[in-house]
This record gives sequence, structure tokens and C-alpha cells, in this order.
Amino acid sequence: MEKNIFKDRRERLTNAIPNNSALILKGAESKYRNSDTAYAFRQDSSFYYFSGFSEPSSVMVLVNDNNNIYSIIFVPMKDKVKEIWDGYRAGPEGAVKDYLFDQAFNNSDLDKEVPEILKGKQKLFYSFGKDQDFDKKVIEWTNIANSAERHSKTIDMVDSTSLVGNIRLIKDDAEIDVLKKSCEISADAHVEIMKTIKPGQTEQDVETQYLYEFAKRGSRFPAYTPIVAGGENACVLHYVENNQPLLDGELILVDAGGEYEMYASDITRTFPVNGKFSTEQREIYNIVYKANQEAIQAVRSGNNIMEPQIISEKVITRGLVDLGILKGDPDELYEAGAHKDFYMHKVGHWLGLDVHDAGDYMEGDEFMSYKPGMVTTIEPGIYISSSADVDDKWKGIGVRIEDDILVTNDGNVNLTQKVPSDPDEIEALMS
Ligand code: GLY
Ligand code: MN
Ligand code: MN
Repeated sequence: MEKNIFKDRRERLTNAIPNNSALILKGAESKYRNSDTAYAFRQDSSFYYFSGFSEPSSVMVLVNDNNNIYSIIFVPMKDKVKEIWDGYRAGPEGAVKDYLFDQAFNNSDLDKEVPEILKGKQKLFYSFGKDQDFDKKVIEWTNIANSAERHSKTIDMVDSTSLVGNIRLIKDDAEIDVLKKSCEISADAHVEIMKTIKPGQTEQDVETQYLYEFAKRGSRFPAYTPIVAGGENACVLHYVENNQPLLDGELILVDAGGEYEMYASDITRTFPVNGKFSTEQREIYNIVYKANQEAIQAVRSGNNIMEPQIISEKVITRGLVDLGILKGDPDELYEAGAHKDFYMHKVGHWLGLDVHDAGDYMEGDEFMSYKPGMVTTIEPGIYISSSADVDDKWKGIGVRIEDDILVTNDGNVNLTQKVPSDPDEIEALMS
């Protein structure tokens, strides 16, 4: 992405804090997996969103000084030896020149510079609770600034989580392009692999294929650990063991999405291991499919975000009553929340740099309404474990269908539509 895009975002955030305030945003640290071996570094999503800068141990301070706004970044210092081992560092000079910050320092200067920046400020915006050591630093810097000469009023600490997260809720054009690509890569991978699934493979075989199909298209890493769940494993919502055989006659649920240029995709499809749904599997599947399709229709600018939630719950309740799995009046069962025994998670979440993306779901006491540029998943499911109090023929069936939906001015775009979810189309693809 153009570096100006990140600068414009910084300016928007800095203009959103009051005069005479500062905002501190911390980047991610490099993490060791075991001795001398680091995980591949991934920048903190918000830090990336406002900087485009991908070096660890960096910190950004945005300042509004009587409507004079400017941005400061603290980065790893240039170091010949470290750069031979670990790669190029921009250093403060590069951060100003290539990332368009107004000022930059080595990160070793934080203790010296940040209290100076904070002196005389009325408010400091910061998101507490993600890194205790850094939280302590922020308090220490604020205390130093507070006790500085001639500064009589203490600095108010304001939590910045919503402010920062809500800017990320509406995706700009550059983000939408990357998200589309991320979803396309994952959709193509799902289609490719659905064609090849057979009894006798293992969940791990299939997981490996997904990782390969993502990586060869440009998503080197998945956006989250894939869930590859054969049979009843699908009823464990966060199943990630992915090590069991795939049996003839069972369904397989795959919840897998790649990350492309920092942006996530999040797709779930459930399909028969042998290519053909059994009667019971198809009956459950059809309910989830209807819930998915009708909930997607409700993702429209101006609609409340609870609409798809309610639609999916009502469709699932009625469907389970029709099959005799729930017994009683659908409206009363819905009001009583009877569906929660079989559909126990929410219909979706924001999607963007994070798979469960930043941004609130409520505005004050009310749930939000959709606006153009928002991206949400729609992922209803039905999970009937072997311990459920139902006829044996339903036991062990777990189905989820998940798509990624962009809200537009006049409706929505399903970014993951390319992967069939119609059961006839799935059978045709697998035949
Ligand atoms: N893959 C995580 C989720 O669907 O929320
Ligand atoms: Mn999801
Ligand atoms: Mn998912």
C-alpha cells in the first residue's frame, strides 16, 4: 500500500483526539518459539494500520498540540551486525523518509523522549492491558511528565481501544482490494481441495493441503489455526488437533483462511468425506444453508447488526422443529433460546487485519447498524454431539457455513461466494 495511506490514517486518528493530547500505540515484539528460534514476526494490526511499518519493538506517539498534529515513531536502531543476521532496519532516518513520520528516534530513547512529549498534555490515549511491562512504562512516563516543573494538572489517561478499533471498522479502498484478494486466495484453495477429499485421508493431510494451497497463492500463513474436523470433531467449536482419520460416511468441517498482505479471510465449508451427503446430513445441512443465505441477505447498510443474528436463530429453530429435534412452538422455543443447545455461537464478527477484527459491536447501549465498507463474517452452524438428547440418527453431525461479506452502498458482496455452499453444487464438485 502507498505510504501516504498510512500517513492519512495517522492524521485522521490524531485529529480525533482533543487538543493538547497524545496517543501511544505499541507495535509487536519478536517472540521466541524455542532457543534461538523466533516465530516469523507479525506486526500488531493497529500499529500496522497506522504506520505500514513492520519492524518489531517499535512505538508510535501521535500528538495534537493546539491543533498542530504530528507523528513520532521509535524504531530499532541501525546496527550493522544485527542487520547481517536479521535483515534490513530502516532506522529513524528511514522511518521519516520512507514511512513519512514527522520525527523518529531509536527505541532506546523512549525513556528519555516520551516524558518530554507528554509534559503539559491534558490527556493521554493508550490501550491498557495487552502488555503489562509496557503498561508500567506508560504509567512511569506519565508520572515523570506529571511531576515536571510548572505542570500543575495531572494527565488524564483515556483508554484508546474503541477509538483506534472503530477507525478500522470501515475499510478503505486499498483495504477492500487486499481483502478481496485474501478471500479469493482462500476460496480458490477451498475449491481445489474439496475436489480431492476422500475417505482414508486424515485431517492432517487435509490441513497440510490447505496450508500449501494458501501459500502457493501468496498467503504464506493462515489467518488462524485451521479447523479440520471429521465427523463429531466438528462439534468442538475450536477443534485444532486435526489428527484423526476421515471416515467414509462422515462429514468434514474445514474452517480455514489465509492471511494476505496482513489481511485475513475466514471461510468454513462442511462437506461429505465420500462426496455424497446422507439423508440426515443433508437435512441438517439445508437448515444451516438457509440460515447462511438469509442472514447474508440482511447484511445491508442501515440494517442493525442483530438482524442476521436473529434471522439465523429463527431459521435454525424452525428447521430443528421441522426435523423433530426441538419439540414445541418455534416462536416460543426461539424466545426461550432453545436453539442454543445446537447453535451456541454468534452469527459472525468483523473481519480485516485480524480475523476477529477490531471495532465495537455497540454504539452506546444499542447494537450498531451496518455501514458501507464494513466487512463481517456470516457463519451459522448446527452441532449435534453424541451426548445430545436426540434420536441417534442425528448424533455426530456438525455443520457450519461461513462467508465473508462486504457491506456496499446498495447491498453487499459475498467475497467468498466462489466456494460452493449449495449442497448439490458441492456434490457436483466432488464427483
Ligand atoms: N475461524 C474463526 C472464526 O470463524 O471465528
Ligand atoms: Mn469466523
Ligand atoms: Mn472461521
